[in-house]
Amino acid sequence: MSDEELRGWEYVCTEGELLPGEKITIWHDDTPILVVNLDGEYYAVEDKCTHEDFELSSGPVDAATGQIECVLHGARFCLKSGEALSPPAYSPVAKFPVKRLNGAIWTRDDR
Ligand code: FES
Repeated sequence: MSDEELRGWEYVCTEGELLPGEKITIWHDDTPILVVNLDGEYYAVEDKCTHEDFELSSGPVDAATGQIECVLHGARFCLKSGEALSPPAYSPVAKFPVKRLNGAIWTRDDR
């Protein structure tokens, strides 16, 4: 694994630690990033509901539809695109890249 390939990326966990349907939140600088495993594919979004900045990771993931629901007021978001799917949230959550390298998962805030 070269240092150059991982410059700017944040380590999440090994692939074996995040099974299908599971989620984990890590911090990259000041950004909380929620990483989920949907049927073997990994997706990352900001762990912050765009309605009132509540942590999305407290809510349930629906692996079949690829959605997460905010437990505070029930807004739903697409974990693959970040799109807000139901009120009271109307703005998408930030979506971040995910990289798999040498059995580990990496992400970063690329804004
Ligand atoms: S804070 Fe998430 S729906 Fe209100």
